[in-house]
Amino acid sequence: MSAPQPPRIAGPETRPWQRLRELTSTTGVRHLRDLFGGDPKRFEQCSARTANLLLDYSRQRVDEEVLATLDALAEAVELRHAIAAMRRGETINTTEKRAVLHVALRQREGQRLGGADIERLVLAERARMLNFAERMRRRYRTVVNIGIGGSDLGPAMAVAALARFSEGAPRMAFVSNVDGCQISDVIATADPATTLFIVSSKTFTTQETLANAGAAREWVAGVLGETAVPDHFAAVSVNTPAMNAFGVHPDYRFEMWDWVGGRYSIWSSIGVSLAIAIGAKHFLAFLDGGRDIDEHFASAPWRANLPALAALLGVWNNNFLGLPTLAVLPYDQRLARFPAYLQQLEMESLGKSVTQGGTAVQWNTGPVIWGEPGNNAQHSFFQLLHQGTPRAALDFLLPARSSCGRQDQHDLAIANCLAQAEAFAFGQPLEAAGSPHKVYEGNRPSSLIAFDALDPATLGRLIALYEHAVFTQSVIWGINAFDQWGVELGKKLCGELVPAVTGKIGGAATSAAHLQPLLEMLRGWK
Ligand code: F6P
Repeated sequence: MSAPQPPRIAGPETRPWQRLRELTSTTGVRHLRDLFGGDPKRFEQCSARTANLLLDYSRQRVDEEVLATLDALAEAVELRHAIAAMRRGETINTTEKRAVLHVALRQREGQRLGGADIERLVLAERARMLNFAERMRRRYRTVVNIGIGGSDLGPAMAVAALARFSEGAPRMAFVSNVDGCQISDVIATADPATTLFIVSSKTFTTQETLANAGAAREWVAGVLGETAVPDHFAAVSVNTPAMNAFGVHPDYRFEMWDWVGGRYSIWSSIGVSLAIAIGAKHFLAFLDGGRDIDEHFASAPWRANLPALAALLGVWNNNFLGLPTLAVLPYDQRLARFPAYLQQLEMESLGKSVTQGGTAVQWNTGPVIWGEPGNNAQHSFFQLLHQGTPRAALDFLLPARSSCGRQDQHDLAIANCLAQAEAFAFGQPLEAAGSPHKVYEGNRPSSLIAFDALDPATLGRLIALYEHAVFTQSVIWGINAFDQWGVELGKKLCGELVPAVTGKIGGAATSAAHLQPLLEMLRGWK
């Protein structure tokens, strides 16, 4: 791994950025009705495909000039060099002095991503993990992943998304919340003799995970005896001493590396619960899908490059059209947790307000990401999106084939998705509406990401698409997408508050005076 590089020029300091600013008063004020202008070719001109993924951005408020300028912006920030630096294993996570090599986790033999040593490590650990997963999927009836954030959201989302591929798998459960309700529910319905817990924690210091793992350990040891612990606990971590202290058997522990960020770690052994659910063959297909997009991102011209396009359109919406939120709307119930997964990926990565160099940014950075399965959202918050005053950009995700074998019903989902995309784009003017209450202004920009079917490779492609879009935006905004200092203060304050909350030591001495009346009240209610 090589030394840190000097910060690159950020997008807002470039000429294309200035030009985009000028275009906000021309293209930026045009309505999608006008941009379409009856042009039957707009779909061809404003869509791109790779493998089985289609990005249809014809309903984005762009024209040829905006697209050409966004292309120039990618060039001006030297995106191609930034991608190469990441793939070479340069120390691009400068505040933590780390390389960023989740792409190396998806490599196949001979690619040498991150260097020969890293390739060897990755391939050996992958083989060991997949072998373990195949054995465990036959041996246990319940498998429980205990982890939080990146050690939970990826596997939990993917196991649900790929339910169709998990025939013959144990019952899978995910426990993250510190409050103990999830672990209680698991314990209430499982048999310790046939249950495997996987403690997933890069650091093995995360309070929530240690609390839940401790409860699970107590349950297993209480029912089966202390000697049963090594048979019922696996772990994935960089922290060997902590795994030793917990009593994880060496054959049941898997390595992580500091060059894999938590929110980028599903491709590593953190994905072992996914591998148990779908089996080694499908897990490898999932990695293959991610790698397809890695290669595409590193080589395709920007106008045909799905992650780069998604990122550039996001910059246009966020920095120039004043749309600081992105709603993610899958039209497939199996992708119900995909918005939550993207929330961590995008908001932990791009929720920054200083540049790589440490100076305050003068431009918007990461948008608020939110969402729900689109069909449910239609009957809750779409009213505000259609007629309310706040505006959002939208991503629709749409498979052509049903994920549960009910194509007749899925066809209704497809029709709903396209109907909504059209309504958001074109609206309904007063002449057609007949009443101001029934006017839809339209002009709400959206992208449609469509694919044939939700399978392991496709899910891998979808995740990698968003990962690289996040990276592209971080390069344009000049920020570090790979640290997360903003999560630390709350953890520190919580550590200080625990003794006061539990009453283990004099609360007044350990926490701020203004909290005392509230703490007392809560104590009284317990
Ligand atoms: O607090 C945030 C965070 O550090 C995430 O970045 C990470 O995915 C999560 O906590 C869990 O961390 P760990 O895997 O070390 O338990």
